[in-house]
Amino acid sequence: MTLLKDYLKSQILKLEGTKVQEIQAKSNILVQNYFKISKADLHIKDIPLSAKDITHLDSMFAQLFQNKPVQYITGETYFYNDKFLTPPGVFIPRPETELLVDCAVEFLSQSKNSLKIIDFCTGSGCILLSIAKKFPNHEYIGLDKSELAIKTAEKNRKSLGLKNVQFFNQDIFEYNQSKADLLLCNPPYLAKHEIDSLEQSVRDYDPLSALTDFKNGTSFYKHLISNFNKLVKTNGIMLLEIPFSAVTDNIISINKNFNANKSLFYKDLEGKNRVIKIY
Ligand SMILES: C[S@@+](CC[C@H](N)C(=O)[O-])C[C@H]1O[C@@H](n2cnc3c(N)ncnc32)[C@H](O)[C@@H]1O
Repeated sequence: MTLLKDYLKSQILKLEGTKVQEIQAKSNILVQNYFKISKADLHIKDIPLSAKDITHLDSMFAQLFQNKPVQYITGETYFYNDKFLTPPGVFIPRPETELLVDCAVEFLSQSKNSLKIIDFCTGSGCILLSIAKKFPNHEYIGLDKSELAIKTAEKNRKSLGLKNVQFFNQDIFEYNQSKADLLLCNPPYLAKHEIDSLEQSVRDYDPLSALTDFKNGTSFYKHLISNFNKLVKTNGIMLLEIPFSAVTDNIISINKNFNANKSLFYKDLEGKNRVIKIY
């Protein structure tokens, strides 16, 4: 009878020397996800594996050998305080994006009125839903060009039991409906030429249209900032995630050139500018 501990050890040994990074952590996530057990249980319990368990685990580890992100193998990602469905084809939420949620929370904490919050490029809906859970009395709209992203965001909304949140399958460049009090966006911000130098597990698995604008990385910022007054109400703000690259300087000059709104940067835990507030 094979025990889980021994199975795990042998898979980790086989993964050593491959290009897969953080082997132990990723292997643990796969096993915990399959057995729905805590990390502590994983090390304490001697779980015997049935033939069916082994078949299932083998298939998960075969995907890890291909350097597929664990979030696409399990189909879920933890973000802020919740778990979100993230099937392959939907952008995996990154921990650094939690800063955008914190900035939105700071803004909304100062308001007593019911506001309209719009999230462009919503993906799994992780940003919008995390905020809607904290402030259920506002009106929330999320847009994405990907139909799969919108279907996934809607499933995530249902599983969190949130009302007042609507998702639409729409290109943000064509959006000309109502204005927002708070407009959020974590857009595709890599330049096309940066794609080749990405880590293989990102380049091969995250949807390309979530990573790059297929130009120099500034298209979304240019559009949003130049249309600030059409998209945002008086006294409203925009919060945009920004990359740590030359794009940051471009965003500042785009803002100066178009409407000279005030702007403020927020830094991530590494001290890098990660969010820009335009107001
Ligand atoms: C970097 S991901 C962000 C997803 C999510 N907001 C997050 O932070 O995890 C960018 C998203 O933009 C969407 N997207 C790309 N081009 C778009 C467009 N023109 N209009 C609307 N959504 C777009 C992609 O489908 C992808 O879901």
